[in-house]
Amino acid sequence: MSEVERNDKNYTVYYHLRAPHGLINDPNGLVYFNNQYHVFFQWNPEGTTHANKTWGHAVSTDLIEWDYLKPALEPTDWFDKDGCYSGSAFEKDGKLYLFYTGNVRNVSGERESYQCLAVSEDGIHFEKKGPLFDHPNNYTAHLRDPKIWQEKDEYWMILGAQTHDLKGTTIVYRSSDLLNWSFEGEFMDVLPDFGYMWECPDVLQLPNKDVFVFSPQGLEAKGDLYQNIFQTGYMLGEFKAGKFIPDKGNFIEMDRGFEFYAPQSFKDNNGRTLIFGWMGAMDPDVEKAVPTIKEGWIHHLTLPREIKIVGNQLLQQPVEELKELRHESFDLLKDIAEKDSIEFSTPEQEINCSWNDAPASFVWKFLNEVTVTYDATEKRITVERTNWLTGERETRSVSLTRALERLQLFLEDSSMEIYLNQGAEVFSLRYFNDNRTSMWQWKEENWKDHLADLTVHELKRTIKFK
Ligand code: FRU
Repeated sequence: MSEVERNDKNYTVYYHLRAPHGLINDPNGLVYFNNQYHVFFQWNPEGTTHANKTWGHAVSTDLIEWDYLKPALEPTDWFDKDGCYSGSAFEKDGKLYLFYTGNVRNVSGERESYQCLAVSEDGIHFEKKGPLFDHPNNYTAHLRDPKIWQEKDEYWMILGAQTHDLKGTTIVYRSSDLLNWSFEGEFMDVLPDFGYMWECPDVLQLPNKDVFVFSPQGLEAKGDLYQNIFQTGYMLGEFKAGKFIPDKGNFIEMDRGFEFYAPQSFKDNNGRTLIFGWMGAMDPDVEKAVPTIKEGWIHHLTLPREIKIVGNQLLQQPVEELKELRHESFDLLKDIAEKDSIEFSTPEQEINCSWNDAPASFVWKFLNEVTVTYDATEKRITVERTNWLTGERETRSVSLTRALERLQLFLEDSSMEIYLNQGAEVFSLRYFNDNRTSMWQWKEENWKDHLADLTVHELKRTIKFK
């Protein structure tokens, strides 16, 4: 594509799903319905702040090309007048049911939340049915983000909640018809004191294993852990009779990068369990300084990731379909021998790197901005970027359980997703730096030993906003 086209406002080269303009946050209502993937999302079409939350709507047949439709839900009723907040979708008898939280500020300025339903025949036009049940006792108005699934002939709904003594939790409801719901209590008995609010709870049902994912707020940073403003993590275990019973009591952060929050899962028509997350929750001052605000938009979703459990290990892998983005591919195995850098023609790249034997330590720098360091002795990965508000360098790290064997990196103009060891760990991050080069540079040499594959794919997708 020529520079002229790249700079034409109607054309944008990117492949992360984002809103045409305004602010996007959580993925909502993910579903494969009527031969299409539907991604709804929290969307403020009127500005780049967290206000006027509608359900934006994009559809795709291949997870690559997306068509944007009109918002499916808008905050126009007494029960959702201050925001159609997050929720999920469920197909029953050929109709699409959306469950969401109506956010309301009452006349005294206090928060009220209503768990609401909207139904559609075509997956495009939705009829709101209003709130489904009364607010439960024992929980504050921080009650939101219904996620629905079916188990035999029963439907279950979980909701992010807060007790009156300001502890985060998840509560569960049961239904036989998706319309009448009974309160069944708390979803999990462990972690009674783990942050002040849990958002966007989700249950993934994988062969032989269930996974409970939630996004707690209010955890204190501890070593490498909980470094972001809010966290998202998972627990492996079993869903049984309305409760989640974890194998062990530990909460594992789902993504080790700077921006990842509020993911949602769904099963597609091939039986795959896929997630999208939001990249992502930020400290409010840092969010206000995001440079794309000047262009009228802020934030995007992660790439669609397939979730698998292999030997009790949760893996997140970019979906196969993303190979369609590959435009030109370069085998660098021989080329890099004498070099300490290579130049990209565009920032949109996928880098695949694997080793036959554990690699030596390395320091890689991308676009003169993001550093990825591997410490082979500690099996430790550190990702460093510049904070665009303070100008300071900041890091996130994780120690791997096995030596690094494989690395898959997706690079876009202002964001990066790094998948390590087949997705056993992932780092997602945004970055903004005016003094960028288009180089990939490295400092050490020995990481080149034992390389099995080093391929760079130039990625391309052209969107023309209508
Ligand atoms: C998570 C969240 C949800 C809420 C939505 C509002 O990012 O705070 O709990 O429903 O965003 O946009």
